Amino acid sequence: MQQFLEATIISVSAQADVAFQRCILPSCGATYGIEDVRVACARCGNLLDVAYDWQRVQSPSSLTAFDAAAIPGTVEAQSGVWRFHRLLPFAQRDQLVTIGEGRTLLQLAGKVAEFVGLKGGKLHLQYEGLNPSGSFKDNGMVAAFTHARTVGARRAACASTGNTSASLAAYCSVTRLLSAVIFIGSGKISYGKLSQALDYGALTIQIAGDFDDAMQRVREVSQQLGIYLVNSVNPFRLEGQKTIMYRVLDGLRWEVPDWIVVPGGNLGNSSAFGKAFAELQHLGLIDRLPRLAVINAAGANTLYELYEKRGLRWNGGQPETDVVDQYYGELDRHQAKASTIASAIEINRPVNLYKCLRALEDMEGVVREVTDQQIMDAKAQVGAGGLGCEPASAASVAGAKVLCDEGVIGPEERVVCILTGHQLKDPDATVAYHTTDQEKFNQVLGRRGVKRASYANRAVAVSNNLEEIIRAIQLYS
Ligand code: F0G
Repeated sequence: MQQFLEATIISVSAQADVAFQRCILPSCGATYGIEDVRVACARCGNLLDVAYDWQRVQSPSSLTAFDAAAIPGTVEAQSGVWRFHRLLPFAQRDQLVTIGEGRTLLQLAGKVAEFVGLKGGKLHLQYEGLNPSGSFKDNGMVAAFTHARTVGARRAACASTGNTSASLAAYCSVTRLLSAVIFIGSGKISYGKLSQALDYGALTIQIAGDFDDAMQRVREVSQQLGIYLVNSVNPFRLEGQKTIMYRVLDGLRWEVPDWIVVPGGNLGNSSAFGKAFAELQHLGLIDRLPRLAVINAAGANTLYELYEKRGLRWNGGQPETDVVDQYYGELDRHQAKASTIASAIEINRPVNLYKCLRALEDMEGVVREVTDQQIMDAKAQVGAGGLGCEPASAASVAGAKVLCDEGVIGPEERVVCILTGHQLKDPDATVAYHTTDQEKFNQVLGRRGVKRASYANRAVAVSNNLEEIIRAIQLYS
């Protein structure tokens, strides 16, 4: 009870006077109030952070403070995001929205550890697919949605490879607080995700183009029509996504792992994770940071190319922006488009690039790329050894394997791979991997360079005959 009272008193006072927005570039450092709706710094055009005057927030003296059970029925009990409200105190407690997000699972994964090359007990999988809309996006959406509510927005928009749109659509349909306008690349999102947006009643704009095109358009449209933008350029989104790391720590009894491995698309998660750990260290709640590995799909490898091949670094807040401009110029000249079976991360122009570079610097990070073959094999292993995931999520496990094979991650190190989306988000990819139908395999996977399905679990076809069915079971079980 004591804990809860303390939390309530703090959260009521914790808002405009303790939270503000600040340009990520230290050399600019422009600040804005939290009521200011913007996705870029007015002075220099860079991304914004939500920042806090931690002196005025009574933050916990130890992470074990979060062990105290919240009172049943309260927002802290219902939400694995707002359970940590004290670490993202930008809204008053009575404004917090929830649909039960963030009640996810950190699982010790023995069988998958073996595949990756880690000793038993060393690999954990964080199942963010267990969120209400089936992906990690709900962690961030609830925060942006709460902010949208506090500023009186009526409509919210996003461009999406499918999960952000499913999440926004779910929050709109459940709460009825806002209406959703979503932009998707035509034919670019999996049916699981498209079906969610349609079923939840979101206005769905299918653009003849890909995610990068949709992203550009939604920025223009939201500005012109005054619609609240919930993509991860919105700094409030990333505040919610910090809590994924708090729950990982909780799952490890508040011990810091050696590595966090996460797929990289628009680079919101990796950016949020870096901020989460930097703040915890600043508050004296942890004494070291884990290392960060961001994994690109080889067909959408902007971060890998810039960070590992061209040596781009955050450089204490002075990144070489020319390197980025030159690379994007090359993409334009070659009319290069992202292409991977992991459609969630089929992105060439990640909007959070600079924030991610900052996280990589803080967390001594590395970036790797993995092929669609590696992604699909890792995905099959995750399915066979646990609750399963969608292709983009499996990039984390495939990337961890690459880093173990290289010796960058040692077999004794404690690794957490983030599984960002639910297995049922993209059943076409899963079925194509396990199918006996070569044509279907080729159509979905073969055309993307996937040659084998080494871990396939093929259905056994038998005629409708009792004896034959029994024979098949005896033969295969
Ligand atoms: N995994 C899944 C399942 C995703 O849906 C996404 C992003 C990512 C990973 C990449 O995360 O952007 O934080 O680096 N999906 C976005 C969307 C782009 O529109 O749903 P990130």
